[in-house]
Amino acid sequence: MDLQEKINDYNKKFNKFPQSLFLSNNQILGLWVMGNNYTTKTNLYGAYPHGYLDRITTLFPLIKNKTLHLFSGSIEESDDYDKVDYNTGIDAHTMSDILPLDFYEMIYADPPYSVEDCDHYGCCMVKRNVVFNECYKIMKKGGILIWLDQVLPQYKKIQFKIIARIGMVKSTNHRYRVITIFEKI
Ligand SMILES: C[S@@+](CC[C@H](N)C(=O)[O-])C[C@H]1O[C@@H](n2cnc3c(N)ncnc32)[C@H](O)[C@@H]1O
Repeated sequence: MDLQEKINDYNKKFNKFPQSLFLSNNQILGLWVMGNNYTTKTNLYGAYPHGYLDRITTLFPLIKNKTLHLFSGSIEESDDYDKVDYNTGIDAHTMSDILPLDFYEMIYADPPYSVEDCDHYGCCMVKRNVVFNECYKIMKKGGILIWLDQVLPQYKKIQFKIIARIGMVKSTNHRYRVITIFEKI
């Protein structure tokens, strides 16, 4: 499915929201205003905001048995995907030592964004460039890496190309985030 078809599917499902995605220069660009519904299934600090997974999996659906939730936090167990987080005993910086290589077709990633975030999890700041190299090793060519962050992470243009950039804000006084979506070359 090409990117415009993905946008069309998204608009069909979320037709109650104003249109917020468009195609420009062969990339999806957009902005999601998530609103002030703060209910999440978990109390974990930094859990995905209400509605995020529904929106992102509409645009880039989960691929059964070929999906990884990276920095998975409170994501529930399922046979449909794998998870990497300290609470699964796997460090993202060395995950390719354990996970299958050249395998994943979809990765949803939600790292801590700052040192302040890390204090909540008792971890050190993520070395984004190292984790990107790890993702490259475990992903299949053409695989999709969906990276939610407050920065555009450092990546190598010979490894990945950007196919979508979507800003995301909840409501007043909440931080702006950006979902950058990469395809493995
Ligand atoms: C923003 S939270 C993810 C929350 C998740 N999206 C959710 O909805 O529950 C970031 C997670 O990254 C994990 N983490 C931080 N550094 C890590 C590392 N080097 N390797 C694996 N997990 C790490 C933390 O334990 C924390 O659960």
